[in-house]
Amino acid sequence: MHHDLSVTLNAIFDSIAQQLEASGFSLIDQFLPFPILDQLREEAVFNFENGTFKRAAIGKGIEKKSVVKIRGDRVKWLDKQLATDSMKHYWSHMDELREYLSNYFRIHLERTEAHFAMYPKGAFYARHVDQFQVSSNRVFSVILYLNPDWKTGDGGELRVYDANGGFSDYSPLHGRLILFRSDLVEHEVLQANLPRVSVTGWMRKDPLLV
Ligand code: OGA
Ligand code: NI
Repeated sequence: MHHDLSVTLNAIFDSIAQQLEASGFSLIDQFLPFPILDQLREEAVFNFENGTFKRAAIGKGIEKKSVVKIRGDRVKWLDKQLATDSMKHYWSHMDELREYLSNYFRIHLERTEAHFAMYPKGAFYARHVDQFQVSSNRVFSVILYLNPDWKTGDGGELRVYDANGGFSDYSPLHGRLILFRSDLVEHEVLQANLPRVSVTGWMRKDPLLV
């Protein structure tokens, strides 16, 4: 189906693909219309307040106590089959983007797994790469930030390291979409001074087993 937005969307997807090709990292602002972003934010906060978020895990066999020293965020995994209207919007864009990147890089990207993430005040995520195991199926990490009115000083920047040991910091601005290579890009989340919300996903090679 082609709608009015498809020309603009294709230009955005192409920009993402070219950035990824050049550096393994891409950034686009205002990826979705603000009313949708606001709804996604509300949905995340609503679910968080209802206690449906869980402490995020890392790898296997790491004790809870030490997990907090590595990452302090809480997550709620999203079920595409149970998507609300605003999440359907997210998924349709993600699916189109995945298909675009799949064609552009001539790789198979089977699906996207995604969760809401909430960093409570004071939470951070220490330096890491998203592909933990030797043969992970995660290809691209994709983060959509949902923080209206985020200001300098609110912290919570995504710090992305380059090959020379340098780094760049990116604020988690409402509507900002960041993608990067899950296997290569070292990154961390600096301490958030306010609750910090996102939808975080991974485009994967493998099918979902149920
Ligand atoms: C992650 C992660 C970065 C961010 O969840 O693995 O690094 O900016 N998130 O939320
Ligand atoms: Ni990460």
